[in-house]
Amino acid sequence: AQTGSLVIAVDGTSGSGKSSTSRGVADRLGLRYLDTGAMFRAMTWWLLREGIDVGDTAAVAAAAGRPVIESGTDPLAPTITVDGIDVSVEIRGDDVNAAVSPVSAVPEVRARLLDLQREAIGSGGIVVEGRDIGSVVWPQAEVKVYLSADPDARAQRRTAEQGGTDVASTQQSLLERDRIDSGRATAPLTMAEGAVHVDSTHLSLAEVIDRIVELAQERRA
Ligand code: DC
Repeated sequence: AQTGSLVIAVDGTSGSGKSSTSRGVADRLGLRYLDTGAMFRAMTWWLLREGIDVGDTAAVAAAAGRPVIESGTDPLAPTITVDGIDVSVEIRGDDVNAAVSPVSAVPEVRARLLDLQREAIGSGGIVVEGRDIGSVVWPQAEVKVYLSADPDARAQRRTAEQGGTDVASTQQSLLERDRIDSGRATAPLTMAEGAVHVDSTHLSLAEVIDRIVELAQERRA
């Protein structure tokens, strides 16, 4: 594949470094970047704002078609809007963190966002991060990566990123999301067929980016 049509799928657990890695790879290779987690977070933010009970699967399913969610795909300045409102900051809040995994397990939510994700990928030239990109969203991706890291490393990085100090509670929240994301019936987090497993526990961000850029160059050769 030419760079123009290349699709790189980066899946993995919460806090494994998918976002920094994917953005870095996209920047190096001149590709666009799509954060599918941000789309699930935007849906969740909107449901909470509408006062919809996120534990009520039928209510969530019925509402899933309503918000207009748009992703900006510049890796150096990704954006996410809901009904025209930029929610890039709001979607990282504790309320969204706590509700996003149950919302993501609702099949109607996944179906709606799957359409938007495939539309955004279009004819390719993009790095896409999530949980089910290599398995469901774009199984034909030329490069598939499954990124993982030990829970301690993930919790430490995520806490530092958020400027917090409570590593234990961050870890608990990460592991709870992993449990729900891996256990759901529709498109659970899994290592896709053909995925290369990269464990970032003892690697720097630059090393992980280099590894994936190499994989992409091998595939193109
Ligand atoms: O990558 P993230 O932490 O921003 O993702 C937030 C949640 O969205 C995650 O806990 C599960 C859900 N998600 C999903 O179900 N499928 C994806 N492709 C991406 C995210």
